[in-house]
Amino acid sequence: TKKPVIAIDGFSSTGKSSISKIIAKTLGLIHMDTGALYRGITYFALQNCINEDRSINIDKLISSLPDIDLQFQNVDGELQLFLNGNNIDREIRFPQVSDNVSPVAKEAEVRNFLLKTQRDIAEKGGVIMDGRDIGTVVLPDADYKFFMTASQDERARRRFLELELAGEKTDIETVKQNLMSRDKIDSEREVSPLKQADDAILIDNTTINKEETIELILSYIKKF
Ligand code: C5P
Repeated sequence: TKKPVIAIDGFSSTGKSSISKIIAKTLGLIHMDTGALYRGITYFALQNCINEDRSINIDKLISSLPDIDLQFQNVDGELQLFLNGNNIDREIRFPQVSDNVSPVAKEAEVRNFLLKTQRDIAEKGGVIMDGRDIGTVVLPDADYKFFMTASQDERARRRFLELELAGEKTDIETVKQNLMSRDKIDSEREVSPLKQADDAILIDNTTINKEETIELILSYIKKF
């Protein structure tokens, strides 16, 4: 039988990407982290479309979209993001990108630009895609939809530990502010806001760990 298409949406730092990655390995699916695409555009903007006050020039970014070629390439068995031929997989996690990504992602032109890349990947099935609007907009016909959430404090704690491990100097309050601000912009934007699809299964992992979350999600997926 055909391999399933799985959509995983939810709030920042609920573990969507790392959990999707493991589920993809377990089930033999391709994993696509769609947040990486929005981060890739933001990274491009920070380098090429900046106002005098160092903020992003959205109009310039929109007119530069045709110059942007974002591709996932296999590096040691893992898909990493390349911008116009350069590996930017590490750079897109920098706090400067996290701080600027949501205002970029709320632009309709940016979202449309990335829509085809996302849908093309899912066409043949056998994919797990994580993001904010996968179950609602990108893949409304997905076989399985999950919506992940956890308390703000728990999410801030997780992201802080992750950044600390990566050698980033930051503090938990700054991390929490960034999460809250992104969630607010993502949920309140006009185009494709972050919200649970009517037919999505809610997964709250405030009090369960990564392994338990994976087990819970897998328990919903039928053998194929
Ligand atoms: O998943 P991640 O935290 O890397 O996503 C970064 C940002 O990209 C989100 O805060 C959101 O603004 C945007 N995004 C989006 N739609 C998606 C995935 C990410 O708007 N499908």
